[in-house]
Amino acid sequence: MLHRSIFGNPAHAGNTISREDANRLLLEWVPNKKLRHHMQQVAFLMKSWAEEKEQLGEADQWRWELAGLLHDADWDRWPDQHCNKIITELESRQVDPDILHAIASHGPVHFGVEPISKMDKMLYAFDELSGLIHAYSLMRPNGYKGMDINGVRKRLKEKSFASNVSRDDINDACSRAEHSLDELIGFIIQKQPGVEAF
Ligand SMILES: [Fe+2]
Repeated sequence: MLHRSIFGNPAHAGNTISREDANRLLLEWVPNKKLRHHMQQVAFLMKSWAEEKEQLGEADQWRWELAGLLHDADWDRWPDQHCNKIITELESRQVDPDILHAIASHGPVHFGVEPISKMDKMLYAFDELSGLIHAYSLMRPNGYKGMDINGVRKRLKEKSFASNVSRDDINDACSRAEHSLDELIGFIIQKQPGVEAF
């Protein structure tokens, strides 16, 4: 629980950090390559959604992408300070409060912060579903190739598959985002395969 509801300073609206600085932070804070890859996947989903579904310009696409890229940045080294650590860091770098709010609300049950904006809701919706679909790709002989929505739905029903992925969170996130599960699964299957880990 974060026990706070205001993040960042409204005077810093629109501020971001560069891609170079974001990548440097990731490499320093997240030794676990798999976790970095997860954030890169979610970042690409956020950017692609902002561009294609919300028709946002490049500056906003980067804000969405940055929220995805850094949402778990403190999980590897400071799990007991998850979310607090990265938010404090980004506040000190005077980052846009909307980005901080999206990071703070990506797990309402865990952090006690409700997703409000579309960016908040999409980060929450993509997070767990992206992880489950990636886990599914790793157990398929051809990875993402030929993956379809029904296959993902079957994995979702199997409680033993990726059991750390909360099905309740996924359903809750879809209904808050007001998109069907099938639409989100279809989008992820289409976008996620091209994301390379660094
Ligand atoms: Fe995540």
